[in-house]
Amino acid sequence: MMTYRIAVVVGSLRRESFNRQLALALPRLAPQGMEFVPVRIDDLPLYNQDDDARQAEPVRRLKSEISGAQGVLFVTPEYNRSIPGVLKNAIDHASRPYGQSAWAGKPAAVIGVSVGAIGTAIAQQHLRNVLAYLDMPTLGQPEMFIQNKPGLFAADGSIGADDTKKFLQKFVERFAEFVRQHADAAAAR
Ligand code: FNR
Repeated sequence: MMTYRIAVVVGSLRRESFNRQLALALPRLAPQGMEFVPVRIDDLPLYNQDDDARQAEPVRRLKSEISGAQGVLFVTPEYNRSIPGVLKNAIDHASRPYGQSAWAGKPAAVIGVSVGAIGTAIAQQHLRNVLAYLDMPTLGQPEMFIQNKPGLFAADGSIGADDTKKFLQKFVERFAEFVRQHADAAAAR
């Protein structure tokens, strides 16, 4: 059975990040044949176009991890009704130099958890805009706007609430199918 590698990009660097907890809980709900690989973005320099011709080692590492994956999962908080700067910084780095973007054609999904009632909805819309420009086909449904409430995560790091677990399971199953379809279509070309 083929294994599909999913690069997981978390938009928060916070030690106790709810989004990182979500990113670590999701693989437990995934069907077989999916490997979720967290990618590091906290050691990237601030993007500077002057450096395009000699990208720093962490940038080259990020690009190689994205290139080696069959899909990308973005798990991000909402900061001031948009995506966090650290996430945009990582996206910009791996999109350059012009014509050598690591993101192009990679199937993606977006999800996020916030303390606010709209559960990162606006950040996700902003992110979808960026991903469309980067030519990343992005899973449309189910949308996943999660508000952090007590009991969302169980003590062992899994998803605690049964109804949320059911929604999340559907989300990862749909994403797995989406990635498979794109990988199969790419292999047939
Ligand atoms: C926030 N937070 C927030 N929440 C939200 O729902 N909409 C928003 O626009 C913002 N804006 C915002 C800006 C900044 C700079 C911070 C630090 C926080 C609150 C946010 O949801 C909360 O801090 C989450 O816990 C962040 O996610 P992690 O770090 O737990 O993954």
